[in-house]
Amino acid sequence: MKKIVCFKNIGQLVQTTSVAPPEIRVRANCALVTENGKVRKVIANAKVQPSQYDRTIDLGGRAVIPGFVDCHTHLIYAGDRKKEMEARARGASYLDILKTGGGILTTVKATREASEESLFESARRRMRRMTELGTTAFEIKSGYGLDLETEKKILRVGRRLRDELGVPVTLTYLGAHAVPRGMSKDAYLNFVIESLPEFRGLADGVDIFCERDAFSAADLRRLFLSAKLLGFQLRAHVEELSRQGGCFEAARLGALSCDHLEHASPADIRAMKLSGTTATLMPGVALFLGGQKLPLVHAMLDAGVPLALATDCNPGSSPAYNMQTVLYLAAHLYRLTPEQALAAATLGGARGLDGHARYGGLLPGQRADFLVLKTGDYRDLFYYFGENFAEKTYLAARPAKPSTPPF
Ligand code: NIG
Ligand code: FE
Repeated sequence: MKKIVCFKNIGQLVQTTSVAPPEIRVRANCALVTENGKVRKVIANAKVQPSQYDRTIDLGGRAVIPGFVDCHTHLIYAGDRKKEMEARARGASYLDILKTGGGILTTVKATREASEESLFESARRRMRRMTELGTTAFEIKSGYGLDLETEKKILRVGRRLRDELGVPVTLTYLGAHAVPRGMSKDAYLNFVIESLPEFRGLADGVDIFCERDAFSAADLRRLFLSAKLLGFQLRAHVEELSRQGGCFEAARLGALSCDHLEHASPADIRAMKLSGTTATLMPGVALFLGGQKLPLVHAMLDAGVPLALATDCNPGSSPAYNMQTVLYLAAHLYRLTPEQALAAATLGGARGLDGHARYGGLLPGQRADFLVLKTGDYRDLFYYFGENFAEKTYLAARPAKPSTPPF
């Protein structure tokens, strides 16, 4: 049975039509017709005929934009790292804290100790809040277990979240996030590579933290060659705090996305362009860690590299739920136009997850995942600082459930 819902009286409807180059289409005074949770067409508001639809919803002249695709998160974890934030303010660095057994390893300890149920509950609260703020598709990484049992526990929680919340969720095995206490890097990396077959069916992709005091570009290559043979999508944390050569290597091996990229070079940018790799930028991390260099965003745009924006939601480098804030930071730190930033945060993220045929642009045939703003102009998102413009989020044409605070 067909269910047709019409959202009428939309003051401004934004669709993302292209990622590289970033392009949006803006239509005034129109209506969005959906069929079984997917976009059917956009019509002029004057052409709305309520008798043809099962339901007609009046949006009162507000702006509608595609839901955000948060294509890089670590939102399943226990505990917090406020103490570490204070230590960094007193001068400790992110990598020094990790080297002395804190940082990621603090969250690993808390996550190992947490029950599957409590991880599910806390992650569900986070996702509901993120959805209320406008995010309608997610990528979620493991990486706070660093042992078979806990890595699987995290990904099982991810699967349950995907089933229960009814939103697109891509799951990534990030065993190579840090070296666990009491193990050498090489022994641990061997374990991660040998464990890959166990994650088939549980994770869609594989990721690695390529950084000084974590894993090298050669480690990335070893891991990715095996992961690729097993059919995993490849994504990588590269060139965040220093240049290690991971971006070039990941692009060469066909990674879907390279993430962070503050230290990516012009050669890395060319490699991403040639391999069609999406560059995922996360300005919230630079803000929270401080003292970071900005990535060469305009060289990426000029080269035609597809861009995505994400929160990196995690307790250590970006305790962020709100993609609206990420858009604002990207627009003003990177000097992006609202069009460039919005394209990256919607269809760009979907492209980085290989989901752009199904969602991300609010285009005909895609999921009707969208955010109704409080005002009639989408540019308000980029103009007024520190506001929340989310009026209501719709997932497959249905209103999202209200959230309870995730703090
Ligand atoms: O994307 N840098 C490595 N991984 C995360 C941070 C994880 C953490 O600090 O808990 C990142 O920034
Ligand atoms: Fe990350």
